[in-house]
Formats: sequence, structure tokens, C-alpha cells
Amino acid sequence: MIIAIDGPAASGKGTLAKRLAVHYGLPHLDTGLLYRAVARTLLDQGSPLDDEALAVKAAQSLDLGHLDESRLRGREMGEAASVVAAIPPVRAALVAWQRQFASRPEGAVLDGRDIGTVICPDATVKIFVTASAEERARRRHRELAGRGETTPYEEVLADIRKRDARDSGRTTAPLVAAHDARLLDTTNLGIEQAFQAAVAHVEAARREQA
Ligand code: CDP
Ligand code: CDP
Repeated sequence: MIIAIDGPAASGKGTLAKRLAVHYGLPHLDTGLLYRAVARTLLDQGSPLDDEALAVKAAQSLDLGHLDESRLRGREMGEAASVVAAIPPVRAALVAWQRQFASRPEGAVLDGRDIGTVICPDATVKIFVTASAEERARRRHRELAGRGETTPYEEVLADIRKRDARDSGRTTAPLVAAHDARLLDTTNLGIEQAFQAAVAHVEAARREQA
């Protein structure tokens, strides 16, 4: 069983993907980490994020099995990731590894922006998670505050809007729901409610395919 979870920043897709993975006993891949790691490599080198050749080289030489998550979180890394993620050959360099992860015999849960559209178009179930920009900004603001990064709410909201526009507007693998994705609007749902709704989608998809 392959569960594909896509959606915009702070929609709750990572939280859902983790819980679904535990619930169904499947490995989980947070694909945003791959783009964050490419951006991190460039920043560490002092290279500009829009240098295509260096970004592709970074993507090709990532140690994908051993990403250091602690250095990939943080407000500026999501933004930097979305810059390198708009470079088509960077995306191309990461496709095979993601598909290989998804092809494990037991299945997998992957979350990102293009899982249902590009990486796993034949996924057992595709869930497109959304929430209003204001609610997503509230969540990210709370999350950043919890990590000691005090950023005004208005700035977090502006970040979210800018990232939505870049991710939705790019030509290669833009953020868009697959035609056969099930929509899950979590604006008014807590984590537990969102999880229950996602399980219901998975079960419905399995019944349809049985
Ligand atoms: O992976 P993504 O950026 O879509 O979001 P996340 O990291 O799963 O969630 C962002 C933040 O919102 C986390 O702090 C979650 O605990 C919180 N959250 C929430 O408050 N309510 C939800 N229904 C889902 C997530
Ligand atoms: O948790 P959050 O949604 O804020 O970020 P993320 O999922 O770690 O993704 C960071 C950035 O990587 C996104 O804004 C996208 O530009 C890019 N990304 C992508 O293009 N394709 C994916 N499958 C995953 C992430």
C-alpha cells in the first residue's frame, strides 16, 4: 500500500503522514527534507541558491539515507528549499530515489508536493491536505515559538503566502491536487480529527480497490 500525502506548507501533512505510517506499520519519507538538504548544502558552501549547476550537483551527491534533520528545520530553510525545488534538473535528480523508497514490498507513506502527481501516480490512496493560509500561519507561528524562533505572526503569514505562490506557480511539478486525490481540509480539525478523517479516506480507497 502506497499512501501519497501532498499539500501546502503547515497544512499538517507531515504530522498525518507520520501517524498513518505508525498506524499501518509502513516506512515514512518526508520528501521536503530532500529539497531542504540541497538548499542546506548550497548555503553551507556559500553558493547562491539559484545556481543551477551547483544545485544539481548537490542533489546528485546527497547522502539520502542519512539526512541530519536538525539542520534542515527552521524558517529560512523552507523558503530556501522552495527556491531549489523550482529547478527542474534538481527535481529530476531526486525522483529515482523517492520511487525506490515507495517500491518497498510492504509499501510506504510519502509526503510532499508532487507525490500523487509525479512520484507515485499509481498510489493506493492520495490525500491532498489543505487549510486556510491564516490557520497554517498560526500553526507555523506556534511551532516556531516552541523552538524559540520568535517571528511576528504577520511575517509567518507572508512567508506562507510567498511559498504557496512559488510552489503553485512553478512549471515543473507544481503544487496541485492529483485528479484522483481525496481532499482533506484541516482548517477546523485538530490533529486527532484530521488523522481519523485520513484513515477513513485510506479505508475507502482500499474498499474501492478490493
Ligand atoms: O508537514 P506540514 O508542513 O504540512 O505540517 P506539519 O509539520 O505536520 O504541521 C505544522 C504544525 O501544525 C505542527 O506543529 C502540527 O502539530 C500543527 N498541526 C495542527 O495544529 N493541527 C493539525 N490538524 C495539523 C497540524
Ligand atoms: O513542512 P513544509 O511544508 O513547510 O515544507 P517541506 O514539505 O519540507 O517542503 C519545503 C519545500 O520543498 C516546499 O516549499 C517545496 O518547494 C519543496 N518540496 C517540493 O517541491 N516537492 C516535494 N515533494 C516536497 C517539498
